[in-house]
Amino acid sequence: MRSKLVKMMLLFLFLGGCAAGSKEKVLKVFFDGVPPSGGASHESLEGVKDGSSDALCQKETDAERPIAIEEKKVFVHYPYEDRDCSACHLSNSSQSLKEEVPALCFSCHDNFLEKMEKKHYPAEEGMCLECHNPHQSENEKLLTHKGRELCFSCHDQEDLFKVEPHNEIGDESCLTCHDPHGE
Ligand code: HEC
Ligand code: HEC
Ligand code: HEC
Ligand code: HEC
Ligand code: HEC
Repeated sequence: MRSKLVKMMLLFLFLGGCAAGSKEKVLKVFFDGVPPSGGASHESLEGVKDGSSDALCQKETDAERPIAIEEKKVFVHYPYEDRDCSACHLSNSSQSLKEEVPALCFSCHDNFLEKMEKKHYPAEEGMCLECHNPHQSENEKLLTHKGRELCFSCHDQEDLFKVEPHNEIGDESCLTCHDPHGE
C-alpha cells in the first residue's frame, strides 16, 4: 500500500514537466498493458527522429529515478503501429496471412535478394521470421534477438571463435563483415 502511494507520487512528479512520449513511458513502467504509442516507436521509421525533447526529458527522469526500474523500448513495425492489420492478414480480425512470407514482406519492401549474388541461407529460404518479428520487437530492426545473439541462435559460438578471423574480432559486430541477408 505504501509503495503504491510512493509510486503514485513519483508518477505525478514525472508527469509534471515531461512531453507526451515520456508520460507514456512512465505509464508503461507502472501499469502493464499500456500499448506502445508513437513516442516509443518513431525511431523505427526511416530517418524520423522526433523524440529529441523526449530524449532530454528521459535523461532527466533517469537521473532522478530513485529506484532502478526496467524500462523497455519497443520498436513497432509501421503497418502494425498504424493498426493496418489487413495489410498482412486476410482481414482486420483474421490471423491468416494474405500471402506467405517472404512474398508478403516483398509486397511492400524492395526485394533485395534479387540483386544479391550470394545469399545467406535463411534469407534465401524466406525464413524472415527467424530473425524479424512481424509486429514489434524490443530490438532495432524488429530483430528477434539482440546483436550477436541473433547469429548465435543458429551458429555455434564456440566453433566459430576457433576459426580465423573470429578469434581476433573482440566485441566487433558481426555485421561489419557480414550482410545478414547476403555476404
Ligand atoms: C507486416 C505484416 C503484419 C501486420 C501489419 C500485422 N501482422 Fe499479425 N502477423 C504477421 C505475421 C507474418 C504473422 C505470423 C507470425 C508467425 O508465424 O510467427 C502474424 C501473426 C499474428 C497473430 C498470431 C499470433 C502471433 O502473434 O503470432 C495474430 C493474433 C496477429 N498477427 C494479429 C495482428 C493484428 C491484430 C494486427 C493489426 C494490429 C496485425 N497482426 C498486423 C504479420 C502482420
Ligand atoms: C504493408 C506494407 C509492409 C509489409 C507487408 C511489410 N512491411 Fe516491413 N515496413 C513497412 C514500412 C512502411 C516500414 C517503415 C519504413 C521503412 O523503414 O522502410 C517497414 C520497416 C521494416 C523494417 C525496418 C524496421 C526498422 O526499425 O528500421 C523491417 C526489418 C521490416 N519492415 C521487415 C519486414 C518483414 C520481415 C516483413 C514480412 C514479414 C515486412 N516487413 C512486411 C511496411 C511493410
Ligand atoms: C539471419 C537473420 C535475418 C534474416 C533471415 C532476415 N533478416 Fe532482415 N535483417 C537482419 C538484420 C540483422 C538486419 C539489420 C541490418 C543492419 O542493421 O544493418 C536486417 C534488416 C532488414 C530490413 C531493414 C533494412 C534497412 O536498411 O533498414 C528489412 C526490410 C529486412 N531486414 C527484411 C527482411 C526480409 C523481407 C527477410 C526475408 C526474406 C529478412 N529480412 C531475413 C537479419 C535477417
Ligand atoms: C535461422 C538460422 C540462422 C541465423 C539466425 C543466422 N544464420 Fe548464418 N547461416 C545459417 C545457415 C543454415 C547457413 C548455411 C549453412 C552453413 O554454412 O552453416 C548459414 C551460413 C552463414 C555464413 C556462411 C556463408 C557461406 O556460404 O559460407 C555466414 C558468414 C553466416 N551464416 C553469418 C551469419 C551472421 C553474421 C548471422 C547473424 C547476423 C547469422 N549468420 C545468423 C543459418 C543462420
Ligand atoms: C573482421 C571481419 C569479420 C567479423 C567481425 C566476423 N566475421 Fe565471420 N567470417 C569472416 C571471414 C573472413 C570469414 C571466412 C570467409 C567466408 O567464408 O566468408 C567468415 C566466416 C564466417 C562463417 C562461415 C564459417 C564457416 O566455417 O563456414 C560464419 C557462420 C560467420 N563468419 C559468422 C560470424 C559471426 C556470427 C560473427 C559475429 C560474432 C562474425 N562472423 C564476425 C569475417 C568476419
